[in-house]
Amino acid sequence: MIRSVVFVCLGNICRSPAAEAVFRAQAPGLASDSAGTSDWHVGEPPYGAMQAAALARGIDMSDLRARQFGPEDFARFDLIVAMDGDNLARIEAQRPQGSDTPVHLLTDYAPDSGADHVPDPYYTRDFDGTLDLIEKAVGGLIAQISGDREEVD
Ligand code: 4NP
Repeated sequence: MIRSVVFVCLGNICRSPAAEAVFRAQAPGLASDSAGTSDWHVGEPPYGAMQAAALARGIDMSDLRARQFGPEDFARFDLIVAMDGDNLARIEAQRPQGSDTPVHLLTDYAPDSGADHVPDPYYTRDFDGTLDLIEKAVGGLIAQISGDREEVD
C-alpha cells in the first residue's frame, strides 16, 4: 500500500513542489514531499511565478523549501514520482542495492494527456499549462493509490 510519495524534478522550485502542493491538497491523509536532483536551489522557496499560478487556483505552496534528492529517499517513501525521463534516470542511478521502491513518471498517471513528461515551466514559462497537467496526473495518481487500497482491504 502506498502511504507516502516524493515528487522529484531538477530544481525543486517549479514542478515538484507544485505536484507536492496539489497532492497534499487532494490527499491530506497521505504523506508527501518533493526534492530536486540538483542542489542548485536548496533552501529556496518555490519560484515566484509558480507560486502565483498555484495560488490563483487556491494552492498555497509558500511554506515549501527546496532540498536535494538522495539515496535515503528510497527507504523514506513508498513511491517516487519523477517529472521527466532525465530526472528518472538521475533517481535510478542512486537506487541502493536491494531497494525495490517503485519510480514512475508523473505523466504515467495521465495517459490520455498524451504527455510523456512534465515540461519545465522555468524554460517554457507556461506555468498554467504545467499546473493543468500536474493536477490531472496527480488526480490519476490518487485514484490509483485509492484503488490499490480498496483491493488490499
Ligand atoms: P524545476 O525547474 O526542475 O521544475 O524546479 C527548474 C528550476 C530551475 C532550474 C532548472 C529547472 N535552473 O536551471 O535553475
